[in-house]
Amino acid sequence: MTPFVKAFFDEATFTVSYLVREPEGRTCAIVDSVLDFDHASGRTDTQSADAIIDYVRSEGLNVEWILESHVHADHLSAAPYLQEKLGGKIGIGANITVVQDTFGKVFNEGTEFQRDGSQFDALFREGDSFFIGQMRGDVLHTPGHTPACLTYVIGDAAFVGDTLFMPDFGTARCDFPGGSSAVLFNSIQKILALPDETRIFVGHDYKAPGRDEYAWETTVGEQKALNVHIGQGRKLEDFVKMRDSRDATLAMPRLILPSLQVNMRAGQMPPPDEQGNIFLKLPVNKF
Ligand SMILES: [Fe+2]
Repeated sequence: MTPFVKAFFDEATFTVSYLVREPEGRTCAIVDSVLDFDHASGRTDTQSADAIIDYVRSEGLNVEWILESHVHADHLSAAPYLQEKLGGKIGIGANITVVQDTFGKVFNEGTEFQRDGSQFDALFREGDSFFIGQMRGDVLHTPGHTPACLTYVIGDAAFVGDTLFMPDFGTARCDFPGGSSAVLFNSIQKILALPDETRIFVGHDYKAPGRDEYAWETTVGEQKALNVHIGQGRKLEDFVKMRDSRDATLAMPRLILPSLQVNMRAGQMPPPDEQGNIFLKLPVNKF
């Protein structure tokens, strides 16, 4: 089964959102959408999500799923906006509860913030499957970057979120709360155990030394041969040493504070005050 995949790239956050569609049919899923957010003004915009909506409408598609590979720390999810406009169920990994627990504390959320994943329509575990029309998707739990990261394998296409990036860029950071480079290494082995010709669609691209174009599609075979962090049968200890020392040098993503507060709520803003105003918190010296 070879689904049709269309990518939508958001250069402001280097995020790739995907629309994955049945090869013979009009049913589709959207993976890792973006709600544009201007940090300086605190203003949201739906330009990125509207591009997906326009495409869905122009092709006359039926959206069955709005999937998140994980709770993103670098962009806000547009899942509720897409759901309102297009329908579909919002799915994420069942370990979202761990992420909600961690960041519920960091942001001092009260008891009204449920930490049971109930903001989402579906919580997926390793081995779960779901359908996009007649097309089956399978769920791999691939933690390490975060505890709730999933890879969605749909036909010959794997949506790996932030586990693997393009071979010349490597892998995702593992230094967020609940992250682990050793865990990520083992998760990546699960992805690399898929057939070599499996198409891999990555969650971000930042270009790479010697490459001046954005790219987001590769294969399992290419990752095994060429990935600069885990290719050529890289050993666990070597990877952990490389990943941890590199992570120690990385700054926090520009949108981490708004992103986490919104994405842990399935893309909803925190509840408004009595006048209907919405506020996001800025915890001091927490990250
Ligand atoms: Fe991420």
